[in-house]
Amino acid sequence: MARHIVARTTEIPPGGNKVVDIAGRDIVVFHVNGEFFALLNRCPHEGAPLEKAACVARLTSPEPGVYERSRVGEMLRCPWHGWEFDMRSGQSWFDPNRVKIRSYPVAVERGEELQKGPYVAETFPVHVEDSYVIVEI
Ligand code: FES
Repeated sequence: MARHIVARTTEIPPGGNKVVDIAGRDIVVFHVNGEFFALLNRCPHEGAPLEKAACVARLTSPEPGVYERSRVGEMLRCPWHGWEFDMRSGQSWFDPNRVKIRSYPVAVERGEELQKGPYVAETFPVHVEDSYVIVEI
């Protein structure tokens, strides 16, 4: 699997996203609570662009009349028909074993760790003798 540098972390604000083309695939990268998630930018239902999806919280109900919000911003609600997906895995909320969005691994790395170039200057031995500096070439 090839690695592709798609953005500086500052390019995608918290709660925002960026669409990138990687090898002909439309991928949307979301920034949620300091984490980044990459998904195919196409809803598996009828193909809506997920860059337009609402990033909502997971809502559960342990008993009638009681609602709990968790994982704020990690659930995607499709803009066309409202199907919901877990951004972390791509799985749909209503049928997680059959319907899912393709998701991709994401890593955040410091710029200098991405690629070490051959930026090595030629060096020469240096000696100090009395008060003269001598460079050997
Ligand atoms: S296209 Fe996404 S729910 Fe219909």
